[in-house]
Amino acid sequence: MKLSDCHNIDDFRKLARRRLPWPVLDYIDGAADDEITKARNTSAFDDVDLVPNVLAGVATIDTSCMIMRRKSALPLMLSPTALQRAFHRDGERAVALAAERFGVWFGISSLATHSIEEIAALSSGPKLFQLYVHKDRGLNTSMIERCQASGFDALALTVDTIVSGKRERCLRSGFTTPPRFSPSALLSYATRPRWTLDYVFGPKFRLPNLDGHVQEGSGKAVSIQDYFNTMLDTGMDWDTAARIRQDWGGTFCLKGVMSAGDARRAVDIGADAIMVSNHGGRQLDGSRAPFDQLREIVDAVGGEIEIICDGGVRRGTHALKSLCAGATAASGGRLYLYALAAAGQDGVERAIGILKDEIERGMRLMGVTSVDQLTADRLRWR
Ligand code: FNR
Ligand code: LAC
Repeated sequence: MKLSDCHNIDDFRKLARRRLPWPVLDYIDGAADDEITKARNTSAFDDVDLVPNVLAGVATIDTSCMIMRRKSALPLMLSPTALQRAFHRDGERAVALAAERFGVWFGISSLATHSIEEIAALSSGPKLFQLYVHKDRGLNTSMIERCQASGFDALALTVDTIVSGKRERCLRSGFTTPPRFSPSALLSYATRPRWTLDYVFGPKFRLPNLDGHVQEGSGKAVSIQDYFNTMLDTGMDWDTAARIRQDWGGTFCLKGVMSAGDARRAVDIGADAIMVSNHGGRQLDGSRAPFDQLREIVDAVGGEIEIICDGGVRRGTHALKSLCAGATAASGGRLYLYALAAAGQDGVERAIGILKDEIERGMRLMGVTSVDQLTADRLRWR
């Protein structure tokens, strides 16, 4: 199987599976408990149907839209995800360059393996920084100031990881940051020499946004579950979010809002956007899918704040359905992570290219020439 054999997101997953040792693939793939929410995030899109119009004159169409004050070529974003150097030697660099090429938003995690400054220098495209609020307040201030100094376009505060979800695949595999060679997975590392040699001899694994503050960032191997539960601030509340919104001063997004009541509070603290998200099913299993929850949230705060549907997106039509349901854009992590693992920047570009084609084709078949024509009357709930 080669990159040119990949025609949808699941194909990239199959290719990634050949390249990655299983603990690493399981970290990407995995979710909390029974992984029911993860599956539901995608299947939710199947419970609605699009209603096309024909003879609409779709020779020329415009897929662009404004998201958080910057123009995006597509109503699609690449959500921030951690530890990308563990998936491919180029890590966040590959994703940043691919996103810039297609004119779409991407985000880097607090737990990114390339620095805020490096990514800002690399890409003039729309980019956000995802903040984890640490107990170490100096670290929070340092990350915000570094983003201000390097000109990040938005800050996304993640609010759904107050404690870690129970990720059983990681408990079984012993996946840590930095990745360690666990005895049970030795065969898998040995049979994936390209990954293993890249990892051992390629650029060193670092978490440079934690520099000077977190020892775990540089040295000791720790599971993500332990990292969340020991390093992050479990006391974080609405006052914390309001304070961070003030300190940052720029475009601000709350990532992980799921209830209409919280969406209202996000408006109240002056957030510009919310990502309706359950962290890709990695936190509270049994939580509702972002797409299912859109209608309530759109009814409550539509028009007052941008609403981004994050999670489960694997097809161009999933983005179209999100827009019909009232979202500003759709966003996702795994939709580009498998491709990153499969083939670095080339892989991510191919994945975005496929989704771009699907969005364009879908719009033409729907009989719309611009994304604002994707309205609620074009969708039926079964
Ligand atoms: C994530 N996600 C995430 N979110 C965040 O705010 N900070 C982070 O560091 C990470 N890291 C991370 C790693 C991996 C491997 C995955 C799969 C996800 C969640 C991410 O931003 C997004 O919410 C989900 O990926 C959405 O679900 P889909 O698109 O993967 O189905
Ligand atoms: C995860 C983190 C790092 O979901 O957000 O693994």
